[in-house]
Amino acid sequence: MEKTVSAFEEDVLEGLKKDQKSLPSKYFYDDRGSGLFEKISNLDEYYLTQAELEILQKNSGEISQTIGPNSLIIEFGSGSSRKTRLLLKELNDIAGYVPVDISRDFLFEEAEKLRSEFPDLKITPIAADYTKPFEIAVNGYANKRVIFFPGSTIGNFTPDQARDFLFQSTDLLAENGGLLIGVDLKKDPDVLNKAYNDSKGITAEFNLNLLRRINRELEGNFEVEKFRHRAFYNETEGRMEMYLMSLDNQSVTLSASGEKIDFRKGEMIHTENSYKYSVDEFEELISEKFYLRKTWLDSKKRFSVHYFEKK
Ligand code: TRP
Repeated sequence: MEKTVSAFEEDVLEGLKKDQKSLPSKYFYDDRGSGLFEKISNLDEYYLTQAELEILQKNSGEISQTIGPNSLIIEFGSGSSRKTRLLLKELNDIAGYVPVDISRDFLFEEAEKLRSEFPDLKITPIAADYTKPFEIAVNGYANKRVIFFPGSTIGNFTPDQARDFLFQSTDLLAENGGLLIGVDLKKDPDVLNKAYNDSKGITAEFNLNLLRRINRELEGNFEVEKFRHRAFYNETEGRMEMYLMSLDNQSVTLSASGEKIDFRKGEMIHTENSYKYSVDEFEELISEKFYLRKTWLDSKKRFSVHYFEKK
């Protein structure tokens, strides 16, 4: 445990000492953050989750057929496995399910729930940071392995990082392995801006929770009310940009390390990007190592789910 805390501290300090301050988005997802994100995904304004669920629901039969029988499904960032349930119902000849998530307690609780719903399914949860190499030790034979990466989380990487990450993760896949991935589409910036600035302020609280987590775990003294959530679409880069803006000149200390950080009034801490891709852009991005077999869209054409095969 100690190691995790010090890695967190190191990452936080590194980010806050840069000219353009930043905090790594993987730390959003402590227990409270994961809960807040669940709430976001139930909002109409945050259309991404509903659109992806619609795609998986309407096409689960076809998706299962495309993936093929006796596959081992490995999910990156499984959370509550809400989307996977739709697939698991259809994939009755599935070889096993491997949910991978960084929130350990949440992961094991959710795996227990899933076990009672699918008693015949072999579930092997792995508590890991899936952006780093990890091993999968699963007994038994599977025809192929399929990485399931929903939620458009791939959009939170830069395009270069996304390509490198997906190419690296092919290490987990043997011949004919697959990648079932959810990618948010480019669209009217108004729709995008509303999705990341919801009227109930849950997205704001989710973003600000990063500061609360630093207070809790690193003995920080952020006055959270003195920061504000900011999110806007950058059309040139094709991405949503998320920030926390300092409302005052202020300084913050992390007692865990005794470091003091100064903020100017109006200064922004960058917390996340969310890249949006057309179908062609995303196919092209990873075409060197993946062959696009099929794409499904929701009825409003806001979101895409692709099935790729390893080349
Ligand atoms: N993966 C989500 C996305 O890019 C994460 C997210 C949703 C998010 N809302 C946010 C991250 C607000 C930071 C701030 O859509």
